[in-house]
Amino acid sequence: MNELRIGIIGLGNMGRNHAEKIIAGDVRGCKLTAVCDIDESSLGKFKELRCFTDSHELIISGEVDAILIATPHYSHTTIGIDALESGLHVLVEKPISVHKADAERLIAAHRNKNQVFAAMFQQRTNSYYKKLKQFIEKGELGKISRISWIVTDWYRTEAYYADGAWRATWKGEGGGVLLNQCPHQLDLLQWLCGMPARVQGFCGLGRWHDIEVEDQVTAYMEYSNGATGVFMTTTGEAPGTNRLEIAGEMGKMVMENDRLTFVRNEESSVEHSRNFASGFAKPEVWNIEIPIEGTAGRHTEIMQNFVDTVLEGASLIAPAEEGIKSVELANAILYSSLKSKIVELPLDGRAYEKELQRLIAESSYQKRAVKKLDENMDKSF
Ligand SMILES: NC(=O)c1ccc[n+]([C@@H]2O[C@H](COP(=O)([O-])OP(=O)(O)OC[C@H]3O[C@@H](n4cnc5c(N)ncnc54)[C@H](O)[C@@H]3O)[C@@H](O)[C@H]2O)c1
Repeated sequence: MNELRIGIIGLGNMGRNHAEKIIAGDVRGCKLTAVCDIDESSLGKFKELRCFTDSHELIISGEVDAILIATPHYSHTTIGIDALESGLHVLVEKPISVHKADAERLIAAHRNKNQVFAAMFQQRTNSYYKKLKQFIEKGELGKISRISWIVTDWYRTEAYYADGAWRATWKGEGGGVLLNQCPHQLDLLQWLCGMPARVQGFCGLGRWHDIEVEDQVTAYMEYSNGATGVFMTTTGEAPGTNRLEIAGEMGKMVMENDRLTFVRNEESSVEHSRNFASGFAKPEVWNIEIPIEGTAGRHTEIMQNFVDTVLEGASLIAPAEEGIKSVELANAILYSSLKSKIVELPLDGRAYEKELQRLIAESSYQKRAVKKLDENMDKSF
């Protein structure tokens, strides 16, 4: 095969944007041959391609070698399983599933490892996070002791939530800011620092918007090496902050406002504390501004990597299997908040699924109005 035939399922804000990028030739080695949306009016712009209103029909059509799933999250699992079982390569939007048990079902369908199965975690291509990861892996920070990420610049209006009937409902979306906006940060968190051993979450449901799911979150995390972390997010704060701090015995790295800095201890703080005679002395530091070249994380880089992996055996930047970790973190934070208790990881996926079903069954939430937006998703992470 020298050209991958791709079909896109779901032509809303994100799927349309991916389709336009492929049609414009921004991804080498592939061709958009088919599209699918249950809403026929979304297909109008793509009349020259094979159009479907049923994802299964597209999957078995013989028109595609691979699909990109850009539908609301619950159907990532069902459509993904269908496509994997039909022998297609799959690129799935984040989150890979709504909850851990569904993510396990989806991953279990990836039996044939010759099929490429990737997730759209384009922030893994962001040069700042890549550099941060390099520093951590080289041991520049020494043993990590603290992580704190304030990511409160996910401000969204009521118009955003009114854009789709599925949005911000337990039944349609299965969660709020943790599941829609934060899969990227939760993925980066585990990509950079691994998974915590336990979490405690404090979530506000519909705190800032007329929605029933979480739009404010503070989570406390503990890692098996004794490190601690705090993760704060909301869609209700403006202008908001995006500040990631990772501290270790050799200093502190901070990412904020398009700058990555490293305040590096001349010697380990642990050694210094043990050996220094004065009670108030601190290790000498070097202030370093890390030069960054490259991009801020683009969807097309993940698409290109997906195509290159199918055609040339490249290594995946974001294997879909790794997407279960951000789902598990999101679920655990919410579960902890709903149950008012610390949650040990690994999370009991079946117990969380049951809790989500309870929320759906007991929901009396009615969305007041649905009004489609036509936004440029280049503004989206
Ligand atoms: N990676 C990113 O940066 C990023 C950004 C935004 C959205 N997303 C993800 O993309 C997905 C879609 O988000 P969106 O904002 O485009 O939503 P959207 O509501 O704008 O679009 C979803 C589209 O899917 C269609 N659809 C629903 N069920 C379907 C089905 N079973 N088969 C075929 N089509 C179906 C809808 O009719 C709609 O056109 C979400 O999972 C979201 O998390 C990712």
